[in-house]
Amino acid sequence: MTQGYVEAKEAFVDEIKVDEYIELEGSIRAYKQLEYSLERSLKMVLLFGKPGTGKTILLHRLYAQHKNKKDLHFIETPTGNRREFYDKLFTIFTGQKMPPNSTISFETFVAYGKKVKDERKIIILLDEAQMYPTEMLEEIRILSDTGSIKFVISLHKTDNEDLMAKKHFQSRIWETIELKNAELSEIRTYIHKRLLNQGLTEVANQLKDRHFKLIYRLTGGNMRECNKLLYTAFEIAEYYDKHHPAKLDYRRFPSKILEMAAIKTGMIHV
Ligand SMILES: Nc1ncnc2c1ncn2[C@@H]1O[C@H](COP(=O)(O)OP(=O)(O)O)[C@@H](O)[C@H]1O
Ligand SMILES: [Mg+2]
Repeated sequence: MTQGYVEAKEAFVDEIKVDEYIELEGSIRAYKQLEYSLERSLKMVLLFGKPGTGKTILLHRLYAQHKNKKDLHFIETPTGNRREFYDKLFTIFTGQKMPPNSTISFETFVAYGKKVKDERKIIILLDEAQMYPTEMLEEIRILSDTGSIKFVISLHKTDNEDLMAKKHFQSRIWETIELKNAELSEIRTYIHKRLLNQGLTEVANQLKDRHFKLIYRLTGGNMRECNKLLYTAFEIAEYYDKHHPAKLDYRRFPSKILEMAAIKTGMIHV
């Protein structure tokens, strides 16, 4: 009897593990563009793509690989709270925590940005820009205009946010990098690597071409959807393994289970 469905399930928990980054063609392409954009004199760089296409993991990777060589900073999930944003800016500028009860005006930040223009090339990675209110995005734009701060911004792609991006950053000097859903071959690599990273060769071998085609069809190549589907599928397999092992074929993963998982996660309706 093949074990490993429990571990296989765990392998698809949707979280960011930079040291388990998987080299997928589209992801690597976007990463190289990101790295290149760090060197260029751009004020704004926009990393654009649907939720679940791998934007956050790329920003984490960029940060991990360049933080020791550059004046590079990462602002993760925002709260939309201006005070918190200013606190973070203060720390980036001074290396210190903002003293409690003090307030620093936005103009002070802008003045600082202008002052250090020739000394510092600050780069701020800013994830989930669609969560910032319009006024804060406008402040970000003004800060980038001081010439000492480059923003690399990730943005979920939806129709509204397209508009927002256009309205706010039109006419700015910036580059747009787009991440698309994965191709079938990338989905296969992604799933294989996730399993093999955990030493789950046998489970990986149970997945054949037709499984990958089915997974691709169900998820459209979206990695978050793929995580959800496989997590649920291995959870179901774990149940059968425990209670009805005779119903499992340990040479080939039952497609039926993938279909059950798709129903459970709402990817197909019955
Ligand atoms: N190249 C990759 N290597 C490993 N895991 C990845 C890769 N791309 C995406 N993922 C995984 O897919 C899921 C979605 O990626 P994420 O970066 O959160 O997407 P987004 O920020 O675009 O919504 C996460 O669990 C992430 O770890
Ligand atoms: Mg994200």
